[in-house]
Amino acid sequence: MFRALGVLLACSLAAQRRDELRNPVDGSPEAIEAGRKLYVNSCSGCHGANAEGGRGPRLHSSRFVRNAGDERLFDSLKSGIKGSDMPATPLPDDQIWRILAFVRSLNASAYETPVAGDAAAGGQLFESAGCRNCHQIAGKGGVLGPDLTNLGLTRSVASIRESILKPNERWTEGHRGVTVIFRDGGKLEGVARNNTNYALQVLDARGALHHVDKAQVEELAWSRKSLMPEDYQTRLGRQGLNDLIAFLSRQAGRAPAPKEEAR
Ligand code: HEC
Ligand code: HEC
Repeated sequence: MFRALGVLLACSLAAQRRDELRNPVDGSPEAIEAGRKLYVNSCSGCHGANAEGGRGPRLHSSRFVRNAGDERLFDSLKSGIKGSDMPATPLPDDQIWRILAFVRSLNASAYETPVAGDAAAGGQLFESAGCRNCHQIAGKGGVLGPDLTNLGLTRSVASIRESILKPNERWTEGHRGVTVIFRDGGKLEGVARNNTNYALQVLDARGALHHVDKAQVEELAWSRKSLMPEDYQTRLGRQGLNDLIAFLSRQAGRAPAPKEEAR
């Protein structure tokens, strides 16, 4: 009797789950773009221009958003959250779904997110704009910047875009720019690797690795600026940027090419 009840309950739960509302425009690039604009108007005041949080919680790279079902998120937007500052959203349902498609896109890896650009054109830009001078993909390229072979799986579209447009806002460990001034007056510029109390390694722009004994160092000047150029917005334009992001979001750890003598 109890078991029968349990089975019945399980069945109705499963049925309920199947009936749960799903976002009809989930993953559509047009919906995500429309949702981004709606987000800026209706949500960014509390959740931040880049969804980084403020009066309301962060909405990108959010474990909560990733785990919450579409219906739950839709209800939170539509009706607000009672007893909190989160207001009801006075927009038609189809626009709320677009906002949610955008919020979801901030929480999926770039590889899982459909993007508007042309990946093949982006691949050409990666060469012609000089990205490969500093970045390896599949074992080929410069070493001043991080290896991008796996970028599509490890980063969201939003964070890739931010890395390209605002390289000074963050640095990746092992790639921070430094100028070493030696006691004898010599100077060395590059990115710092393996910084300890007694020594550090500096990789220069040509890819040569220098071992620096701190006893010989007069001063370490840490760079506030990234070594990555910060004018790509104007150099690439909107279309070029979208193409490049499409290309980068496809980078999902292909087998590395045979090792060459890179240094
Ligand atoms: C007036 C400030 C404000 C505005 C505007 C606002 N939010 Fe919120 N939001 C909050 C606060 C505060 C919370 C935390 C609520 C709580 O305590 O659970 C929240 C929570 C959330 C959550 C988590 C929902 C949950 O079920 O716990 C999501 C998702 C969210 N907001 C998305 C949005 C979106 C999308 C918009 C624009 C349509 C928006 N918010 C507009 C303040 C705001
Ligand atoms: C002169 C060297 C240089 C050039 C050219 C360069 N980058 Fe970078 N890039 C870096 C460095 C160094 C970092 C490490 C983080 C920082 O300092 O911002 C970086 C970081 C990144 C990141 C973040 C990676 C991560 O794992 O955090 C991405 C994405 C990126 N670059 C893409 C590009 C693209 C696309 C181009 C060409 C349009 C480009 N870079 C050109 C040096 C360069």
